[in-house]
Amino acid sequence: MSEIVTLSFADQRQWVQNRVNKTLLNQFQRLPFNQSQLVAAMKYGALLGGKRLRPFLVYAIGDMLNVAVENLDVPAAAVECIHAFSLIHDDLPAMDNDNLRRGQPTCHISFGEAHAILAGDALQTLAFDILSRSAMPDVSDTYRLAMIAELATATGAAGMCGGQALDMESEGQQIDFTTLETIHHHKTGALIRAAIRMSALTAGNQGNKLLPLLDNYANAIGLLFQVHDDILDVTGDTDILGKNQGSDKKHKKSTYPSLIGLEQAQKKANNLYEQALDTLYMLEQQYGLNTETLQNLTHFIIERKS
Ligand code: IPE
Ligand code: IPE
Ligand code: MG
Ligand code: MG
Ligand code: MG
Repeated sequence: MSEIVTLSFADQRQWVQNRVNKTLLNQFQRLPFNQSQLVAAMKYGALLGGKRLRPFLVYAIGDMLNVAVENLDVPAAAVECIHAFSLIHDDLPAMDNDNLRRGQPTCHISFGEAHAILAGDALQTLAFDILSRSAMPDVSDTYRLAMIAELATATGAAGMCGGQALDMESEGQQIDFTTLETIHHHKTGALIRAAIRMSALTAGNQGNKLLPLLDNYANAIGLLFQVHDDILDVTGDTDILGKNQGSDKKHKKSTYPSLIGLEQAQKKANNLYEQALDTLYMLEQQYGLNTETLQNLTHFIIERKS
């Protein structure tokens, strides 16, 4: 991100949005049947709106480690494909049964369930297509392989899918705090952590040695992101959220506000925010890194309205 390090945080977010959308659009154009309903559903789920938080993390971490931006487009696009897949499937009738996403009808409402399922499947494999084939000029094959492993583990039963299954099984159940934390760390935290770790790995050995501290940061903001998402489901506004406020309650989801109340959930969010900032401070002190962009992002995660 060095070319935009002088930009305001809002402009950095716009820069990431433009950059990752361009990469994704290129990838979609290269697919066979790119005029098909399937590819239309993939584009709908991946390109129409969204904050691009995970790609932002990729570019912000890479920039902090002086990685040339050409190496970061690949992990940024790959993790966003997995994220888009997770949202399309999350909204399906068999899961959260939601009809509004990013201010638009959900993918299955617009394209039908069969195409929504297949679009999610195809976005998942596209992520690994991009990650295994696209150019990362300064990344060795060893580190590319490590990145593929990171994203695979974070997506599957040990990560997002595992968390989503626990989330479904906990609907209408009385679960304990530890189980809720496990759900959130997996369904949401795992992909956020993968974005951060893949970006660090583009910096080779230098990034590799930072992984323990970066994991601490990732665990704090991953959980924070979902706690705040749970809070927004109670306090947010459907028009601003772009998804239906009150969906969790309607489906008897286990969430932070439902388990410990809104006030305690907010307290938890504040603690996680402080924890994340403490880790960034350690990165500055121990490694002389500039974490300003990540500090701004952390602030954004707890303040965001959508
Ligand atoms: C929504 O993620 C799903 C959760 C993990 C809470 P985002 O809030 O990042 O969704 P978009 O990409 O901005 O729409
Ligand atoms: C979704 O959590 C997490 C994933 C999609 C993996 P939620 O079900 O809370 O996300 P929203 O609120 O529908 O965006
Ligand atoms: Mg869900
Ligand atoms: Mg949902
Ligand atoms: Mg939610």
